Amino acid sequence: MYPVFSIFGMQLLVHILVVLGWILVAGTFILCGIFLLLHNVAGDACVAMDQWVQNPAAHTALDEILPCVDTTTALETLAKSKEVTSQLAEVVNQVITNMSNINFSPNFKPLYINQSGPLVPILCNPFHADLTDRACSPGEVDLNNATQVWSGYVCQVSAAGICETTGRLTPTIYSQMEAAVNVSYGLINYAPFLVQLEDCSFARQTFSEIHREHCPGLRKYSREIYVGLVIVSTAVMLSLIFWVIYGRERRHRTGGKQEHEHQAEDRAAHQEVVEEGGEIKEH
Ligand SMILES: *[C@@H]1O[C@H](CO)[C@@H](O)[C@H](O)[C@H]1NC(C)=O
Ligand SMILES: *[C@@H]1O[C@H](CO)[C@@H](O)[C@H](O)[C@H]1NC(C)=O
Ligand SMILES: *[C@@H]1O[C@H](CO)[C@@H](O)[C@H](O)[C@H]1NC(C)=O
Ligand SMILES: *[C@@H]1O[C@H](CO)[C@@H](O)[C@H](O)[C@H]1NC(C)=O
Repeated sequence: MYPVFSIFGMQLLVHILVVLGWILVAGTFILCGIFLLLHNVAGDACVAMDQWVQNPAAHTALDEILPCVDTTTALETLAKSKEVTSQLAEVVNQVITNMSNINFSPNFKPLYINQSGPLVPILCNPFHADLTDRACSPGEVDLNNATQVWSGYVCQVSAAGICETTGRLTPTIYSQMEAAVNVSYGLINYAPFLVQLEDCSFARQTFSEIHREHCPGLRKYSREIYVGLVIVSTAVMLSLIFWVIYGRERRHRTGGKQEHEHQAEDRAAHQEVVEEGGEIKEH
């Protein structure tokens, strides 16, 4: 009983193993295809990025995806942002010098807010009229902390909007100056970055970095993984094929032997019958 069960169990196990083996081979081949694809896509992307970085003027594959404004437009944007910053600073400084820092008589109604106390420092304009960089004069406050400095000059106002305490700025004027400074500050700090995005120099820099640092490794490793998978799946497949061939060969041989035995038995039985019959002629 036991050997029969053992042979039966072994056969089942072998069948399961063979099926599992084929699934494994199919899986590794699919994985292999994915890595081959990745390898090629990565290679294409790397080549495209490199071409685009190397040829700023020529039309490359990436040019159609990335909308780059030409450099002159980008520079115009930068100039415009400087101009706006400069003009805002000028307007703020005019309000400070012509209104807040002058002690008007109560007759000058719109300009009189009962200004008193120390003079408000003017804002440092970071650009000359021709938009070249300008260093701050002493006594000017920087865009970084102008609102902080000016907050010390704000007075408390009556219902009519007149200062009741020492100070030269009403909260309303202060908040308008703060807004102007915020805009100027934003333009100065973010315009260069936005312009970089506009003329794609930021993208160029990023791409050349990716191409230099990541592309060689990506292509090398995806290639190695893909070659390794090919080798493994081929080896597993070949061993499965040989196993199947070997199994068939062995079954064939043992089956053949059994057949020979059957034939011998048959012949013996036939002979017996013939001998018993006696008079029956041989055919
Ligand atoms: C402020 O004063 C300057 C001269 O110091 C003058 O040119 C300018 O027009 C004045 N601005 C206002 C709004 O009064
Ligand atoms: C404002 O910033 C300048 C430098 O940028 C610094 O010298 C000054 O002390 C600051 N003032 C205040 C009130 O933080
Ligand atoms: C003007 O401000 C001073 C404080 O600097 C205050 O004593 C005075 O009452 C204020 N005048 C008016 C009309 O609000
Ligand atoms: C200006 O910016 C500061 C933060 O940087 C913010 O707290 C403030 O509310 C802004 N003021 C205005 C008027 O936008």
